Amino acid sequence: MHETTSSKPWAGRFNAPTDAFVEAFTASVDFDRRLYRYDIQGSIAHATMLARQGILTQAERDAIVTGLETVRARIDAGDFAWSIPLEDVHMNIESALTADIGDAGKKLHTGRSRNDQVATDVRLWLRDEIDTIRAEIRRLQQALLDLAEREAETVLPGFTHLQVAQPITFGHHMLAWLEMLDRDCDRFADCRRRMNVMPLGAAALAGTTYPIDRHYTAELLGFDRPAENSLDAVSDRDFAIEFTADAAILMMHLSRFSEELILWSSAQFGFVELSDSFCTGSSIMPQKKNPDVPELVRGKSGRIFGHLMGLLTLMKSQPLAYNKDNQEDKEPLFDTVDNLKGSLKVYADMMAHVTCNRERMREAAKQGFSTATDLADYLVRKGIPFRDAHEIVGKAVALGVREGRDLAELTLAELQPFSGAIGEDVFEVLTLEGSVAARDHIGGTAPAQVRVAIQRARERLSAEAGGDA
Ligand code: ARG
Repeated sequence: MHETTSSKPWAGRFNAPTDAFVEAFTASVDFDRRLYRYDIQGSIAHATMLARQGILTQAERDAIVTGLETVRARIDAGDFAWSIPLEDVHMNIESALTADIGDAGKKLHTGRSRNDQVATDVRLWLRDEIDTIRAEIRRLQQALLDLAEREAETVLPGFTHLQVAQPITFGHHMLAWLEMLDRDCDRFADCRRRMNVMPLGAAALAGTTYPIDRHYTAELLGFDRPAENSLDAVSDRDFAIEFTADAAILMMHLSRFSEELILWSSAQFGFVELSDSFCTGSSIMPQKKNPDVPELVRGKSGRIFGHLMGLLTLMKSQPLAYNKDNQEDKEPLFDTVDNLKGSLKVYADMMAHVTCNRERMREAAKQGFSTATDLADYLVRKGIPFRDAHEIVGKAVALGVREGRDLAELTLAELQPFSGAIGEDVFEVLTLEGSVAARDHIGGTAPAQVRVAIQRARERLSAEAGGDA
């Protein structure tokens, strides 16, 4: 057995030093040091509350605050020696503080535990990250709105089952993504609201014997309120699971978006071109321009789904209250945040530089009898029941298939045998423009509706930016 010699803040009841491998195995400082700014923020608020309650003197509190600020400046500057024997970010900072300021540093941990401390740190950190993530979602939405505006009238085939269904406008298609992102953004706001409750004061699990003021600490840290129950406060990781679930849904959306961009930028579709800055080439095939960015984002959805399952499994069956298992919440959360932010950033930048090949989309929309439903609706307007109209159009389509021509390319003489109700005016509804323009109601694909929808979305987003969120 390898032994360590360093002394631990909790060494009092131990007779033998920690096994060296166990020490490294149980330490979290290699990853939780990322929380240092929030750990210090929480400690400053805690010490300030202790002094206000007369548990620390004002001089002790001031020494602690100055000392913690110095430690923070050293860490910021990369001038801090992180120690594995000191286990985690909390004990590393506390021990550096005590080395600097002496006895006052030893009083900082009065009335708290690492259990309520870490639960607080992670919430403070994630709260900031959610704000950044929501801003990135909004930036991506702005790029989609600009693109939708430019292409409000561009017609492309809409698909169901990846078979040509009906003509739609490109702007309308972009606004579908905008809506998904809107719900994603709301979900994060919701998660933030539920998460913004302060664990501090729960101490190890049962609360503390000191006359603390949890409302005051919560106010200092911008929490809505202190957590109601100390056992729940130290052991709850719902917020981490909820955040990761929200991230997984967003990544699922981006993976669908990616799939379309990958298909659309292929030679076979040729609907859009991604900017060279967002693609890479092949080391062997000189002609290649690969849509790596959407592919990678599609791929990254996998690890984030995995983190969601990992966190659920981490918490499953844990008895109250804190267990060391909980230390395993951080790496999946950090990885989720990093990859989610990266995916959103690259998407917002990429979508600002997409060019559309309007001709290609138009050509594609003309194939596959995309206006067949319009012909059926035309017959209904002439008094034919919809089911009969469906049958009539089906037969006309069969003729088109045999002839290799679209409905709009059949002559009146060829169409009329299917129904006496078909007149010269039929060709108006068989055009792509006529087809999309006719879907002129809220939520429809008509260019006029797309423009109004863009307007409504812009108002929604700017109201939020103005603080109405
Ligand atoms: N590093 C620990 C974590 O991330 C901090 C809390 C440790 N608490 C304890 N009683 N060992 O969960």
